[in-house]
Amino acid sequence: MAGTNWKWHKIAETEAELGWQENNMCLVQAGDRKLTLARHQDQLFAFAWKCPHASGILADGYISAAGQVVCPLHRYRFDMQNGRNTSGEGYFLKVYRAERREDGIWVGWEEKPGWFSFGF
Ligand code: FES
Repeated sequence: MAGTNWKWHKIAETEAELGWQENNMCLVQAGDRKLTLARHQDQLFAFAWKCPHASGILADGYISAAGQVVCPLHRYRFDMQNGRNTSGEGYFLKVYRAERREDGIWVGWEEKPGWFSFGF
């Protein structure tokens, strides 16, 4: 898209060096942002570390069989790919790109010139 700029941050040399929890999520630092990294069915997902409802720590929740992150506080569910609040409360989870590349694990987001975006 014209006028947008992708910012990518390498967060690890290998996936194995990340601090994965038993629930297949971990917290990572990407530039000045703290994010949740999740893996489900051999795919990586990255999204905000706090729930948009009342700031539950999403990495303390779990991933449903359908591949949605479930917040530990009030059990709202979010699609990890597009941030949709699939349990229907009308919130939106900020999502990022996560990629496995030959040289490591990368997380990225789009930045629009003149806009400020704040990750939770
Ligand atoms: S804080 Fe996440 S559902 Fe309420």
